[in-house]
Amino acid sequence: MFSEQVSTYFCSCSALYPSPEEGWQIYSSAQDADGKCICTVVAPAQNMCNRDPRSRQLRQLMEKVQNITQSMELLDLRTNRDLQYVRNTESLMKAVDVKLKTASDNPRSLNPRSLQELKDKVTQLLPLLPVLEQYKTDARQISRVREEVRNLSLVLMAIQEEMGAYDYEELRHRVLLLETRLHSCMQKLGCGKLTGVSNPITIRASGSRFGSWMTDTIIPSSDNRVWSMDGYFKGRRVLEYRTLNDFMKGQNFVQHLLPHPWAGTGHVVYNGSLYYNKYQSNIIIKYHFRSRSVLVQRSLSGAGYNNTFPYSWGGSSDIDLMADENGLWAVYTTIPNAGNIVISRLEPQSLEVLQTWDTGFPKRSAGESFMICSTLYVTNSHLAGAKIYFAYYTNSSSYEYTDIPFHNQYSHISMMDYNPRERVLYTWNNGHQVLYNVTLFQVVKTAGD
Ligand SMILES: *[C@@H]1O[C@H](CO)[C@@H](O)[C@H](O)[C@H]1NC(C)=O
Ligand SMILES: *[C@@H]1O[C@H](CO)[C@@H](O)[C@H](O)[C@H]1NC(C)=O
Ligand SMILES: *[C@@H]1O[C@H](CO)[C@@H](O)[C@H](O)[C@H]1NC(C)=O
Ligand SMILES: *[C@@H]1O[C@H](CO)[C@@H](O)[C@H](O)[C@H]1NC(C)=O
Ligand SMILES: *[C@@H]1O[C@H](CO)[C@@H](O)[C@H](O)[C@H]1NC(C)=O
Ligand SMILES: *[C@@H]1O[C@H](CO)[C@@H](O)[C@H](O)[C@H]1NC(C)=O
Repeated sequence: MFSEQVSTYFCSCSALYPSPEEGWQIYSSAQDADGKCICTVVAPAQNMCNRDPRSRQLRQLMEKVQNITQSMELLDLRTNRDLQYVRNTESLMKAVDVKLKTASDNPRSLNPRSLQELKDKVTQLLPLLPVLEQYKTDARQISRVREEVRNLSLVLMAIQEEMGAYDYEELRHRVLLLETRLHSCMQKLGCGKLTGVSNPITIRASGSRFGSWMTDTIIPSSDNRVWSMDGYFKGRRVLEYRTLNDFMKGQNFVQHLLPHPWAGTGHVVYNGSLYYNKYQSNIIIKYHFRSRSVLVQRSLSGAGYNNTFPYSWGGSSDIDLMADENGLWAVYTTIPNAGNIVISRLEPQSLEVLQTWDTGFPKRSAGESFMICSTLYVTNSHLAGAKIYFAYYTNSSSYEYTDIPFHNQYSHISMMDYNPRERVLYTWNNGHQVLYNVTLFQVVKTAGD
């Protein structure tokens, strides 16, 4: 310690170091023989930092991320192995299927020997059952992990607000990495045919009869914001809520005033930008929320607009934008396509059309449509009794009529979009915002298909 007198010059040490309240102690300021300032500073003890509740919270979060990472690794390993097993069993199933077909087409061909053969083959298939059981368990675990990751991002958001600190970035990065892996894991169990739409949950009743609401559809993302766009006609006001919970309560929102008004309800948020159809045109606009600016706008060549080719409910729903696991899509029609639904895959930066499919399904007879795993699903009405009636597979350029019912509780659906990150359907039903679960079935092909 110093007992020397501070003579001619005043040395200020405290300006260089944090204050005592933060655990730093400055004992003295003085000048040495050459007139240089000398400060004696005692840095806060290590345990001082540890007692900081924020850093404890961060440490716990780190541990949690570590834990989730470990369980993801395990899951990843197992789904890889199980998937291989299921694939290996496919040929066996095909053989059984062929034998069964022969037997049912021609019952007399079934002699004791071939019956025994069939029995043997079925016996060989039995080990598949526990594997499929494991599949189900893994799917459940994945949805638990997903909830944990979601919780983590919420906590992170709160911490960021409190301290905006450096460690936060590191953590956020790790959570994002986790989401990427979670996604690849889900993909393995994941993409398939839609077989069910269930469990409608009414999140809120707000706004007019027609409208649209959504969360970001990019994967991965730790963005929990909810956007709501009321009406289909010339609107410009987008409400942005911090979380789904805030949206439910109608609290904590900010407003974006779009530079150009919108038409219809076919908007989508993808990677922090809103993609929407400009009023009375076939121009698609990409509006970036953070910078509150239009990044790009481009005409969707030939696309009908201004209520020329809407869905069955009208409302200038000529151009429907959507995103799925595989990117950004536009659903619309043109005069050369005679009003039948056309699907185009869009490049998200430039809005250029990458590829186009003609589904042959009349747009006017469609209530709504949404895309899951590069397949377009179309409903046959916006009113009570509507069902998912038609599916177009872009991967094979083929279609199929389907019969998938869903509960249309409020009898007028003006928006229906799949969110691949959350694997739910967002709908706007007569002024109610409703979510549905979807069930996807991963097909193990048999010779009968
Ligand atoms: C991480 O996992 C360990 C062992 O399973 C457990 O004791 C610990 O409480 C977990 N930590 C967190 C933050 O979940
Ligand atoms: C996520 O947070 C909610 C609300 O705090 C809690 O009820 C739930 O158990 C959490 N889920 C997981 C998997 O940690
Ligand atoms: C196309 O996608 C569907 C649904 O995901 C799937 O069932 C089908 O097997 C795929 N077809 C081809 C040729 O990959
Ligand atoms: C999402 O946006 C970020 C920049 O904000 C960009 O770096 C990234 O490539 C985008 N991802 C996709 C899939 O477009
Ligand atoms: C759009 O439709 C309205 C009403 O039918 C009409 O008055 C208007 O001129 C049309 N605008 C364009 C650009 O086609
Ligand atoms: C709907 O999805 C949520 C989240 O994955 C899940 O907790 C819930 O059990 C699902 N409901 C049905 C009926 O599948």
